[in-house]
Amino acid sequence: MSTTLVTNIGSLVTNDPARAESTGTGPLGLVQDAAVVIDGDRIAWTGRAADAPSADSVYDARGRAAIPGFVDSHSHLVFAGDRTQEFNARMSGRAYSAGGIRTTVAATRAATDEALEANVTRYLREALRQGTTTFETKSGYGLTTHDEARALRIAARHTDEVTYLGAHIVSPDYADDPAAYVELVTGEMLDACAPHARWIDVFCEKGAFDGDQARAILTAGKAKGLHPRIHANQLSHGPGVQLAAELDAASADHCTHLTDADVDALANSRTVATLLPGAEFSTRAAWPDARRLLDAGATVALSTDCNPGSSFTSSMPFCVALAVRDMGMTPDEAVWSATAGGAAALRRTDIGRVTPGARADLVLLDAPSHVHLAYRPGVPLVSEVWRRGVRTT
Ligand code: NIG
Ligand code: FE
Repeated sequence: MSTTLVTNIGSLVTNDPARAESTGTGPLGLVQDAAVVIDGDRIAWTGRAADAPSADSVYDARGRAAIPGFVDSHSHLVFAGDRTQEFNARMSGRAYSAGGIRTTVAATRAATDEALEANVTRYLREALRQGTTTFETKSGYGLTTHDEARALRIAARHTDEVTYLGAHIVSPDYADDPAAYVELVTGEMLDACAPHARWIDVFCEKGAFDGDQARAILTAGKAKGLHPRIHANQLSHGPGVQLAAELDAASADHCTHLTDADVDALANSRTVATLLPGAEFSTRAAWPDARRLLDAGATVALSTDCNPGSSFTSSMPFCVALAVRDMGMTPDEAVWSATAGGAAALRRTDIGRVTPGARADLVLLDAPSHVHLAYRPGVPLVSEVWRRGVRTT
């Protein structure tokens, strides 16, 4: 295996908890005038460039800043078609509702495997160019046993972080009998889907699934070895966040409408609050209050929620900028949440950090500091991306 020394990094975000503590540089564990040694697909060394060991080859970062690859812990990439008209109508004043999901379900069922595969590949490339080196993705636009299992098989060709979301909405085929749909999702569909997934998710919301249904679905998934995560409290107050904490879900996603008790539940559990600012941007909804969660001691992740209905962006830099501008996060907090926070939401310690032994996922920015991700919104600052030790751009 050959080693590469990436040197002359102006400022390096390591997210190394040990370094953060010893240097007092905050959770980012910043190193100025830094270098990184990559050995195969792993980070072998990080520190000051002046102290760097030699390596087989040298790459000069020419003073640019470096951060860990973004970890996008929430996306819905297995879909066909788009919802341009719905977006257009919304920007003319119509409200967002879960009902639009049915449009994408019809298009996805009608699509060939090849078309779905090509779509996933396209959005992944798009995300990679913007610095995303790990992503989670979900089913949820099939809603039949065949179509959900197909979506998960396609997703699993691209990532280990695959989530079964048969409980996205009640399938239109079961509009008159939601209980029978819950039976399907927790029975035959779960049996067909569990072998292809790591996680189980449910959209716990008015118009989708209530607290009791969500509990039944996640509990059935747990019994089949899937770990829970929840679409919770997106459009209104509801039981999703409390349920996430109760079931030790890895993540409660959206968290837009929270009571004090919800915030306490997140602060006092291992469940990460995953905020998805692209959704509030694209639905013109009120922003989640990241400051309130952080001040209470909750762990916060940022993700894109990339999907054709409520958040058609694959850009983590865009989410970082929104979170800083509109959700009360500092640039340091937002960058941490988009990298280490995403890793925490996936219960991973091998990604979202640039530390010895971690996966060699590294992004060089056309900027002297990670702060520019929020300071220069909309500017394509991602300059080079290493994923698993391979330079991809
Ligand atoms: O996370 N909230 C539920 N699911 C998606 C929206 C899906 C859609 O509108 O197609 C979300 O926002
Ligand atoms: Fe979502």
